[in-house]
Amino acid sequence: MFFIKKSNQKIGLLHKFIIDKIYYKKGGNKMIMEIQGNQNLTGVVNIGGCKNSAVAIIPASILCDEEVRLINVPQIDDCFTLLEILKSMGHGVTIEDNEIIIKPCKKIKYNIKSDLVVKLRGSYYFLGSMLSKNKKVKTYYPGGCDLGSRPINYHLDGFKKMNVTIKTKKNMLILKTKKLIGEEINLEFPSVGATINIMLAATKAEGTTIINNCALEPEVEDVAKFLISMGANITGLGTKRLVINGVKKLFKTTFTLMPDRIEAGTYLILGAAANGRALTVNNVDTHHLKSLTNLLRSIGCTILEKDNSVTISKSKPLKNFAISVSPYPGFPTDLQQPLTTLMTQIEGASEVTETIFSNRFSQVEELLKMGADIKVVGNTVKVMGKTVLMPGKLKAKDLRGSAALVIAACLSEGVTTIENMEVFFRGYEYPIKKLAALGIKCKIISR
Ligand code: EPU
Repeated sequence: MFFIKKSNQKIGLLHKFIIDKIYYKKGGNKMIMEIQGNQNLTGVVNIGGCKNSAVAIIPASILCDEEVRLINVPQIDDCFTLLEILKSMGHGVTIEDNEIIIKPCKKIKYNIKSDLVVKLRGSYYFLGSMLSKNKKVKTYYPGGCDLGSRPINYHLDGFKKMNVTIKTKKNMLILKTKKLIGEEINLEFPSVGATINIMLAATKAEGTTIINNCALEPEVEDVAKFLISMGANITGLGTKRLVINGVKKLFKTTFTLMPDRIEAGTYLILGAAANGRALTVNNVDTHHLKSLTNLLRSIGCTILEKDNSVTISKSKPLKNFAISVSPYPGFPTDLQQPLTTLMTQIEGASEVTETIFSNRFSQVEELLKMGADIKVVGNTVKVMGKTVLMPGKLKAKDLRGSAALVIAACLSEGVTTIENMEVFFRGYEYPIKKLAALGIKCKIISR
């Protein structure tokens, strides 16, 4: 057993355990990770529950009028931050390993003052869930990785259409409605966040809400399945048109979160880039990984899919390639940064075009320090390989950028240190343990 915490205990203390039992002071010392490269890495990684489902399902749990039991919740900082927010609102939270029980409170605090809200993006799901549950909410704009401009106008426009008044005061958002009314909402872009937030608001709204051009990402479906498990009336899952008929009450549930396709993809990219015998990711949904496994196969990797696992190996040099990211089922933007590290290990020119976020290239400056021939032209990352990456002193700036640097450090011969690794632990569960299972030695050292 890893740990048990009861609802009356301070969840903040759990940060002690999240990072593979190594304590770091919150808001204090910056976390530095030291990685000893090993090109011959090989082994099996067990993939955890999905971060981007969890960060919506935890705020969505307040919609339930009874107890919610969540299984396969990833033990990552973003989840613990959201659970701290839930507690500050009055909810009971019990955590045992990857299972969480959330108990409703009699009187929910609608003023979510907590500074924790600005630590991550997923906190914006309290807007939709609080409107649906409580008809009003006062909170901060969300934080999250700096990937260029990240407006939430689609969320707010959707709420407005559903009869919500919106005021902003300094950096606070105040949303109120006398009665949430179902509406037909056409999204300009299939935004993951806006689709989920409007779906949350619509769950207990009066009448029918239709979301056209909604996001198809599997995380949207996972959140919809969670809501349905509590009695929500949602149809059109997996299509571009979600139909939500508002219900009055939601009931007790036990729900298992889907596996994290981006965590799995990150390790598969590491396997493709290294020279080991084989790397297997277990506990995955192979369908969710198709855009990646198709790419890796097409450039020469051997991919073996079996039930809920994927094994990657290679017997010849990989072919260079060009690809663009796009909404699901396209190649995910969340794997664009790790993919650029793989590109440095392939002979010739490769490129990846980022079409979702305006500035998701923080890894480039750091890979240059390791000797990579890499540049950003417009919204395309261009790489000329193959490069023997040198160990370096790097700085992580965002979650998936940090994953790109971890892969690079694993490939480099020698010891690399990466500072600001708090961003990595926001979204990757037990990375030290999982990398150790592949033969990679790494540890946290403080500045
Ligand atoms: N956009 C708007 N207005 C909006 C909403 C989005 O202009 O109201 C734009 C964004 O600026 C962006 C594009 O639409 O250019 C797509 O944004 P989307 O709303 O789909 O992204 P998100 O909800 O902010 C989620 C994930 C991201 C993931 C994207 C795309 C969470 C908490 N975040 O972000 O995950 O990259 O969908 O799949 O679910 C990560 O895990 O590292 C991460 C950043």
